[in-house]
Amino acid sequence: MTAILSAEDLRYAYPGEGPALCSLSLQIETGRKLAILGPNGAGKSTLLLHLNGSLRPQQGRVLLGHQPGDYSRRGLSQWRSRVALVLQDADDQIFAATVAEDVSFGPLNQGLAEQVVRARVQSALTALGIADLAGRPPHLLSGGQKKRVAIAGAVAMEPEILLLDEPTAGLDREGADQLIAVLRQLGQRGMTLVFSTHDIELAQTLADDVALFQGGTVLAQGGAEAILTDAALLARAGLRPPMLVDLWLMAQARGMCPAAGPMPRSSEALLALLFAETPPARCAV
Ligand SMILES: Nc1ncnc2c1ncn2[C@@H]1O[C@H](COP(=O)(O)OP(=O)(O)OP(=O)(O)O)[C@@H](O)[C@H]1O
Ligand SMILES: [Mg+2]
Repeated sequence: MTAILSAEDLRYAYPGEGPALCSLSLQIETGRKLAILGPNGAGKSTLLLHLNGSLRPQQGRVLLGHQPGDYSRRGLSQWRSRVALVLQDADDQIFAATVAEDVSFGPLNQGLAEQVVRARVQSALTALGIADLAGRPPHLLSGGQKKRVAIAGAVAMEPEILLLDEPTAGLDREGADQLIAVLRQLGQRGMTLVFSTHDIELAQTLADDVALFQGGTVLAQGGAEAILTDAALLARAGLRPPMLVDLWLMAQARGMCPAAGPMPRSSEALLALLFAETPPARCAV
């Protein structure tokens, strides 16, 4: 596996505060979906701000491929066209007069032709289910709608790596499902995805890999299944395994499904495992 982006021994403290990141190291592998999972205040947003050069480490370094991050104006502009970040709070990200203008800002800055930008914007708005909002002023939208606009803006840049800070926070069920589908599609097209969340169910649904954060450092990084089934490890970050994993492990302990095999990612997948060997009894007619 090749790390496309990595953090080496980062330390960062906000002015007048204790360290928000301490000796934090993390690797992001090409084409994978990595969840940065941890409780409030664990340092997730602070790390993401380092990964696109918005914050500069006070110790350690960020590497893009094998190259240390270049914090010159030109270096940052190139860095951000490869690594796009969707902030936790959409209000910090949206500023144009209309939704379409806002979403076109990134691709226009990349120097793309107007026709290409228009196609990118249309496709991003459609993917996020907000094509009907194209002409609306963003400040008049709901929180969830603004969040989708911010994500559409990053998607329209077609970055190599898309960083999303709490992407489903504030979205309703349909909006969250739609976003998960979009992110899966982007992943299938080869985009590397990194998202922060304290929602372990989201990590289970979407992540290939998980980095478990606590107190500004990485407690563990590995495959989603290894991390999300380790109840003792998760407890150290104040988290519990996803409900589906709990049920799966209980079913395994009772011999109701095979003791090995990949972790089920959906209720349907768990049902399929449970009934693979003992089909449900049919009603006598
Ligand atoms: N702008 C800031 N000024 C001072 N301290 C900050 C600032 N932003 C974050 N912190 C502190 O840095 C630490 C890490 O915060 P961070 O926002 O990275 O956590 P997080 O894991 O993203 O949390 P959440 O799940 O609530 O979004 C916390 O102790 C927080 O209080
Ligand atoms: Mg945060």
